[in-house]
This record gives sequence, C-alpha cells and structure tokens, in this order.
Amino acid sequence: MNNRPDSISDTRKLQLLLRFNQLISRRIELKPMIAEAMTQARELVNADRTTLWLADEESSELYTFVGEGLGEEVRIRIGEGVAGAAAKERHAVVVNDAYSSPLFNPEVDKRSGYKTESLLAVPMESTDGKLIGVFQAINRLDGFTAGKHGAFTEEDTEMFSSMAAIAAVFLENAVLYDEQQRQFRSFIVTLAQSVDTKDQTTSNHTKLVTGLSVAIAQEMGLSKRTVERIRIAAVLHDYGKIGIPDNVLQKPGSLTDEEREMMRSHVLKTILLLRRINFSRELRDIPRIAGMHHEKLDGSGYPFGLQGDEIPLEGRILAVADIFQALTQTRPYKQGMAVPQALAELRVMTTEHVDRYDNPSGIHVDPLVVDALARILERESNDLRVFEEASKWEAMLQGQII
Ligand SMILES: [Fe+2]
Ligand SMILES: [Fe+2]
Repeated sequence: MNNRPDSISDTRKLQLLLRFNQLISRRIELKPMIAEAMTQARELVNADRTTLWLADEESSELYTFVGEGLGEEVRIRIGEGVAGAAAKERHAVVVNDAYSSPLFNPEVDKRSGYKTESLLAVPMESTDGKLIGVFQAINRLDGFTAGKHGAFTEEDTEMFSSMAAIAAVFLENAVLYDEQQRQFRSFIVTLAQSVDTKDQTTSNHTKLVTGLSVAIAQEMGLSKRTVERIRIAAVLHDYGKIGIPDNVLQKPGSLTDEEREMMRSHVLKTILLLRRINFSRELRDIPRIAGMHHEKLDGSGYPFGLQGDEIPLEGRILAVADIFQALTQTRPYKQGMAVPQALAELRVMTTEHVDRYDNPSGIHVDPLVVDALARILERESNDLRVFEEASKWEAMLQGQII
C-alpha cells in the first residue's frame, strides 16, 4: 500500500500537470507512455491506483487499457459499475464508500483480490463528443494513517477531469493514426499478395523474404522504426514483377538474354510504382530500399550498379534475404538447397571469389548481415519456421500504436 502525504503542494500539482501534458504529447509507444502519465495522475489526486478504460463502440463495452494491479484485460458494459456509469452519464462519478454504493461492481475486486473503497471516474470524450473511455482513480489515500483510505474531493475531481481532457485529445489522435496505419498496411499487404499470386513458381517468396529481412534486422539490433521500414520495403521489393509478362515470369527453364533483361526490369518497375505512393516522412526511403535488393557490394549488381557504402544496410539486408530465400526454395525447375549449403554459398559471396561460371568476382553481400543470419540459423538449428513466423501478414497488420 502506498503511503503518501494527504495533500501535495500547488507547485507540485502544477509540475505534475505539466509533466503529464508533456508525457502524453510525445509520440512514442502509446502504452508505456500512458502508464507513466497515469503514475503522475495518481500522485496528483493522491490515489492508490489509476485505470484507463477505452470504449469499444461495437460491443458497448469498456475495456482496461492501462492500469495498476490488472492482470488480463477486464471488460465491463457501459452503464455497469462506477466507470460504466461515468461513461453512460458522461459526467464525473465519485463513490467514497464503494461496498455500500449500488453503482459499485465488486466483480473486478473479486478477480484481482484488491479491496476498493473509494473511486473517482471521469469520462473522456473526443472533440466531436464521442466517448473515448474513462479515466479512473481508486482509493484516495489518507497518508496520515497507513492503510486507511480517504474520500476524493471536489478538487481531485477537477484535477482529474483536466487530465482526462488532455488524455482524450491525445488518445483520439492516436486512434485515428492507428486506423490510418492499419488501412495503409492492409493496402500494402494486398499489393504484395497480388505479386506472390501472379508469380506462382516462387509463391510465398515475398512473404519469406519479409520474414528473413525482419529477423535479420532484429538480430542486428536495429531500431524498431528501422525494422518496420525494412519490413515494408521487403513486402514490396518484387512488386514490379506485376509488370512482367507471365510467360517470362513463370518460364521454368533458363531465360534468353532478352527475357533476362525483361526479368531484371522488375526492380526499376518496383521503384517507379512505389514512387507513386505517397509515403510518410519515415517511410520515404522505401522505394529506394526496395529497389536495392539486387545490388552487390562490388558494383556488379543491378539496376544501378551501386558499390559499397552506396548501398545502405537496409538494402544489404534485403539482398541477403532475397538470395537466401531463392537458394533454399524448391521451385518447379529446381530442388531447394539445404540450409548449411545455402549459408556456405552466401559466405563465399562475402569474399572475393570465383563464380559458378569460373569468372573472378568481387564481394557481393555484407558479411555482417550474413553473420546475423548465421546466428539465427544456429539458434534455430536450421529450422526455417522462425522466418515464417516473422513474415506473418497478421504481424504486418498489427497496429503499431494501440
Ligand atoms: Fe527481385
Ligand atoms: Fe525477390
């Protein structure tokens, strides 16, 4: 049980309120940020616990989004319990003797083993008056007697309402942003699926290259944002194949020079098609990265013949993932290579070597990227299922914010 003084100074209150505002307007991961802001809110009204409920419009329910002492998500109907009453009536509800109040629902206490005595619940509304959720404080602390609870005051309600209003604006934006993200991602996945469907000889190639790229990027310790950029670039890397005639794309035997040129043009097509998408600032590099998956460090790749540092890490990762997937995949005209053999091939490509046509060849792929792949393979005992897991479209569609 917390043991805090019964009231805090006005300066401290102002400090907390400002800090709350600051915290909540930082666009980082939503949940930890809200959790931290809630700690401030708890101190501000001298409560033992705070809970943030979000409204689920479809089911007319509230569900716990962030809260102390909560195990799994708790759902209640709007209108049920103190939080439910605040949501239904759209005004603050204060209950200072929970077990004698008809509004109080002891179910949550039963499940969590916590004893609620006093509650303060404030609805959060969007700018157009839609219910976003409920901001709730539990057990006003009377710091002078440890374990004994006090009553929430009118001042607490006012303070808490201010915080609920700030949180509401922020959550409304976050929810809108999340919806847009989902829409964008579902669009991207549909594009990618259309390529894998068209190119049946290499079905699932896009998916697996995505899984490999994401796993390698994570293994290399890249930031979450960079991993997401790589994921989307990988999903779209062969999108230009949509513009390659089926008889070339699906030809089982070797290609004529002209057909090979046509096949290679898929990269430029990818870049041109992706440039038409209005990517956000963070994703602006996607067309460029996606267009680098056939570049080689010695400059012998295509379409631009970029060399060394001209190929950023994101592009190098895509290249290794693409080669490894192609080597290990069984296609109608060839048996897929065993994992150790494919890895050995990649290792050769990290050094100056003689290619399979006996021509001297420079370094094609980044040894650090191959090392990262090797570490994953060793850990997974060469089982490729881990990449299938990482490539799930569902993961791609998962909201990054909420
Ligand atoms: Fe490609
Ligand atoms: Fe590819």
